[in-house]
Amino acid sequence: MALFIGVDIGGTKVLATAVSSTGRVVRTAVRSTPGRRVESRLVEDALTEAVQEVAGIRRPAAIGIAAAGFVDAQGERVRFAPHLPWQDEGVRARLAERWSAPVVLDNDANCAARAELTYGAVSGAQDALVITLGTGIGGAVVLDGAVHRGYNGMAGEFGHMQVVPGGRDCECGGTGCWEQYCSGNALVRFVRDQGVSDLSGPQVTEAALAGDETALAAFASVGEWLGVGAANLVAAFDPEIVVIGGGLSAAGDLLLEPARDAMRDSLVGAAHRTVPPVVRAALGPEAGAIGAADLARQRFRTVGTRA
Ligand code: BGC
Ligand code: NA
Ligand code: ZN
Repeated sequence: MALFIGVDIGGTKVLATAVSSTGRVVRTAVRSTPGRRVESRLVEDALTEAVQEVAGIRRPAAIGIAAAGFVDAQGERVRFAPHLPWQDEGVRARLAERWSAPVVLDNDANCAARAELTYGAVSGAQDALVITLGTGIGGAVVLDGAVHRGYNGMAGEFGHMQVVPGGRDCECGGTGCWEQYCSGNALVRFVRDQGVSDLSGPQVTEAALAGDETALAAFASVGEWLGVGAANLVAAFDPEIVVIGGGLSAAGDLLLEPARDAMRDSLVGAAHRTVPPVVRAALGPEAGAIGAADLARQRFRTVGTRA
């Protein structure tokens, strides 16, 4: 059976997966993202290591990359990436050459939406929004049952909508971006501002699940911001369902309950419409990698073989 690999590169970590034709993850490898102010080569080395670990001695039929950044409409270049060193670089061709394998490239949240459409929470829906909460906020707009990419390929950059004029500085160069109030970074900042030092996003999640008050308050705040932003997106797109993925979704209702409340409170015409359910991504934090592998499989499946 042909081997298709999906690798998700976020601001914090690299996750490579081997994915079956039914969307099942059969093997994973993880590396830390070396940073955003390093040479691109270092990030590509981490990707290469993770991919090699998952492939083992086998030769992948194709590899999909789910990148935390603005990918052009052709799927060739990462044009801009607030959390990664890639700035206008032809990542797809470069890695295809380095790996001697076919490579496809898309935005990480778009890949997550693709996976949720094919195997998960968006399956069967025509209009949906996917919001991933990790280091930043990823977004995807599902229109007519497909991921809408926009004119530049950059649709769904929800994280950089300005929600607080003159607010916190963002890695994108702007201020007051939604992801500064509603993301893994925002969660970590919240507990730090309460005098708790040096916890990672997953550690805050663990503490909240164990009942820690500061961590719970952090989720209440991030959840409320999630609901307010989601209400604006629902006003714009009128989706059937809103799916929340990324690392923070591991907190489940600790995050989703305050989000649902805030969304209902601020959604225009809430009493006169079907308010969309806000649900957790069925494929969890692996959705991006699964979607990237699926993209690779669809693009490079050999006609007539069952891959
Ligand atoms: C980037 C997006 C990415 C998201 C999640 C944002 O800061 O602009 O392209 O999808 O983070 O990784
Ligand atoms: Na996107
Ligand atoms: Zn921003």
